[in-house]
Amino acid sequence: MAFEEPDSPVCRTASLSDLDAIRALEVVEFEHLAYPYFVLRQLFELHGANWTVAENAGVVCGYVLTAVDGDGTAWFLGFAVASACRGRGFGRVLLEAALAQCRKVHAEQVYVTVKPGNRSAYHLYKEIGFAWVDHEVDYFGTDEPRDVLVHRIYH
Ligand SMILES: CC(C)(COP(=O)(O)OP(=O)(O)OC[C@H]1O[C@@H](n2cnc3c(N)ncnc32)[C@H](O)[C@@H]1OP(=O)(O)O)[C@@H](O)C(=O)NCCC(=O)NCCS
Repeated sequence: MAFEEPDSPVCRTASLSDLDAIRALEVVEFEHLAYPYFVLRQLFELHGANWTVAENAGVVCGYVLTAVDGDGTAWFLGFAVASACRGRGFGRVLLEAALAQCRKVHAEQVYVTVKPGNRSAYHLYKEIGFAWVDHEVDYFGTDEPRDVLVHRIYH
């Protein structure tokens, strides 16, 4: 009898050894805006304890890079699912796990930027309770507009 792959990722806290996989997904998904490895490494030093990765069949297939300040504000600084794993609910599961982590560390608002036109990301954020708060034409530099969304957490 063949074993079926479970169609739900295992979410866990990131470890240093996940940085190569995160970097590889960043490059594919965000191209010139991908975080360089050294930036990921430094962000990891500060925030890695709050990062969530998703594994499918033992392979990292997605991540949410969460940063939390000491004042109740969190940001999702990166979020992606490997293209081969999309459309199976992994993104939603990852976001929910990342939000649970924000709740655990007593964040009260979680911000994220999204490129206007990124319909699947926008759809997911809205579905799990993010609301639009701002739009900046050159948020990430010339011709890189972003909407800013926020999710309020009530404790
Ligand atoms: C955004 C991303 C993480 C979603 O991952 P995923 O595993 O496919 O997410 P899910 O399967 O959980 O959900 C995708 C949702 O988008 C919806 N969707 C897909 N294409 C859509 C479209 N063109 N318009 C509206 N909704 C769309 C799906 O129906 C699904 O919603 P549902 O669960 O209500 O049916 C993935 O597409 C990705 O990595 N994209 C590239 C990186 C990126 O854009 N990251 C976000 C940066 S803000």
